[in-house]
Amino acid sequence: MSLKIPEHVAIIMDGNGRWARKRGLPRIAGHYKGAEVAEDIVEFAIELGIKHLTLFAFSTENWNRPKEEVEALFELLRRYLQTKKDKLYKLGIRVRFIGRRDRINKELVKLMQEIEEESKKFKNLFLNLAVDYGGRDDILRAVKKAVKLQREEITEELFSSLLDLSCSPDPDLLIRTAGEKRISNFLLWNLAYTELYFSETLWPDFSREEFLKALEDFSRRKRKFGRVLDE
Ligand code: FPP
Repeated sequence: MSLKIPEHVAIIMDGNGRWARKRGLPRIAGHYKGAEVAEDIVEFAIELGIKHLTLFAFSTENWNRPKEEVEALFELLRRYLQTKKDKLYKLGIRVRFIGRRDRINKELVKLMQEIEEESKKFKNLFLNLAVDYGGRDDILRAVKKAVKLQREEITEELFSSLLDLSCSPDPDLLIRTAGEKRISNFLLWNLAYTELYFSETLWPDFSREEFLKALEDFSRRKRKFGRVLDE
C-alpha cells in the first residue's frame, strides 16, 4: 500500500511528565527531551513532503500547572526559539504562533514576532506552534472579530478566516501520544473532519518509526467528509 502524505498534521505531544517520572527525573526533563523529539519530527515532516505541521506546546489550561513548571516550560520555549531560529530559517520553515499573546512575557512575544517576520518568505514547511492556545478561546476571539465586522451573513469560510489557523488548511491527521484519547481543547473548529490517531507511546519516546506508523494508519482510512463513497 502506498503511503498517503497528509497535507497538514497536528500533534498533541503528551506524556512528557510520565516519561520523566518513570526515570525519577523532574517533569521538566521530560519537556526538554520532548522538545528534541519535536525538532526531529519537524525535520522528518519536511523530508516526507508534509506542508503544514501544528504542534501543541502550551494550552490555555496549562497555566494551572505549578508555577515552576510553567516558568520552566516558557524558559524552554524561549531558549529553543533563540538557539534554533537560524536552523529553522535554513530549513526554509515558515513559523507562525497560534494562541493568545497577552499573557506571555513581552520579551518572548517580541522574539515570536521576529521569527514570524523573518520566516515569512519560507515555504518548505508551515510550522504552527500553539502557545497559550485553547480551541474555545480561539473561537471566542473569532466571534468577537466577526461581531465587529457587522456583516449580514457570516459564512463558514469567513469565520474560518478569523481563526488563528487561517493560513493553513484544516488538519488531515491529528496525532495524540501517551494513551489519552481526547482533544483537550485543541483546534476545535478545525478538527471537524480530521482523522484521529492515538499512540500509547509517551512523547519523549516518539520517533520517526512511530510517525510513519501513524501515516500508514492514515493511508488506510477512507475519508468521507459526511458523504457516501462509491463502492
Ligand atoms: C504534555 O505532557 C506536554 C506539554 C504540556 C508541553 C509540550 C511541550 C514540549 C514537547 C516542548 C516544547 C516544544 C517546543 C516546540 C520547543 P505532560 O506534561 O502533560 O505529560 P504527562 O501527561 O505525562 O504529565
